[in-house]
Amino acid sequence: MKIKPFATEEFFADYEFSAPYMLSASDCESMTIEALMQCAGVGLDGLGACSLQYTESQGGRVVREAIASTYDAVSADDVIMLNAPQEGIYLAMNALLEPRDRVLVLTPCYDSLVQVAEHIGCEMHRLHLIADHHAGVWVFDMAQLEERLRTLKPRMVIVNFPHNPTGYLPGVDEWEEMQSLVTRHGALLFSDEMYRGLELGGRSMLSSGGEHHSGRVITLGGLSKSHGLPGLRSGWLVIKDQRLREQVLAWKHYTSICAPAPVEYLTSIAVQVQERLFEANRALIEGNAAYVEEGLQDDAMNGFRWIMPLAGSTALLFSPWQDVEAKAHELAREHGVVVLPAKFLGADAGAVRLGLGRAGFKEAWDKFIEVMKS
Ligand SMILES: Cc1ncc(COP(=O)(O)O)c(C=O)c1O
Repeated sequence: MKIKPFATEEFFADYEFSAPYMLSASDCESMTIEALMQCAGVGLDGLGACSLQYTESQGGRVVREAIASTYDAVSADDVIMLNAPQEGIYLAMNALLEPRDRVLVLTPCYDSLVQVAEHIGCEMHRLHLIADHHAGVWVFDMAQLEERLRTLKPRMVIVNFPHNPTGYLPGVDEWEEMQSLVTRHGALLFSDEMYRGLELGGRSMLSSGGEHHSGRVITLGGLSKSHGLPGLRSGWLVIKDQRLREQVLAWKHYTSICAPAPVEYLTSIAVQVQERLFEANRALIEGNAAYVEEGLQDDAMNGFRWIMPLAGSTALLFSPWQDVEAKAHELAREHGVVVLPAKFLGADAGAVRLGLGRAGFKEAWDKFIEVMKS
């Protein structure tokens, strides 16, 4: 089976672990297992006592209850523990879509949200977030969604809020409307909520799709982004509809079978202290976002502009460069500065993604401005 290269992951594979100035990571600042346990006020003994046997395919009851308790109206039975958030995308698309199904994806987006369904042979359609540079905001076109639902009759709609890469977050009412429109038109809604908890400037967290009364919203959560624990490879799906859940579990027997026992254990600890992790990461992002605003005033940054993110850890920086991909490779190879070309995510070809959740961001941004000056 021929698949498209995963442009974002291939770009990071080349530079993420060698170039010193990372400007584009989507995860937040990470921590050690020891620091996580300290934050939760527990010792390392529990981890040491963790048996390395197989776990339940759906996930052990303890971890599923811990995850369910972070939502309203979600029970442990609704949760499927994963081996990585990415696995949730793969499982849900393969289990719930057939070749030639029509799928509507909010664009730009993380590569696999469009490509996994494309590999299956689905007919992919895109719904674009629109950059309003005059007002400095991203706009979601609800009328356009309604029209596409009516004319396309898609099997699935895929969204991701808080949004990677734009930092867009719909209003509470808009999100409710989106969920009811999609489910009323008989489509499944796949809601990627990997950046939930990173609502900036005091904005409130949206309800989770997993809490939606229709039970037709499949929700992806995980510890990689808002919690800053990507090395744990911990994620989960929330699926209220039993038949859909069983279809997804049937696929899981062919991928990871079950999550590692230490990951289940550490996940149940991490979700208990998630509010504290979110708070620290929101502060980091807000500080870095203010630093970008300040840096954009520098003469060296003439021709660059951005739209301030409302939520999440990423935002797009629009550049004056003709060939962004060539420039990004040059910056990484010659100056150690990593900026991800946003065209990999289906965004404006002139843009790059900024990742604001890392502690080293300011130093990397300084280096970027220094290179632009020279
Ligand atoms: C929107 C979104 N969903 C899912 C994932 C996958 O997460 P992970 O790499 O931890 O499996 C990512 C990673 O960048 C993402 O940005």
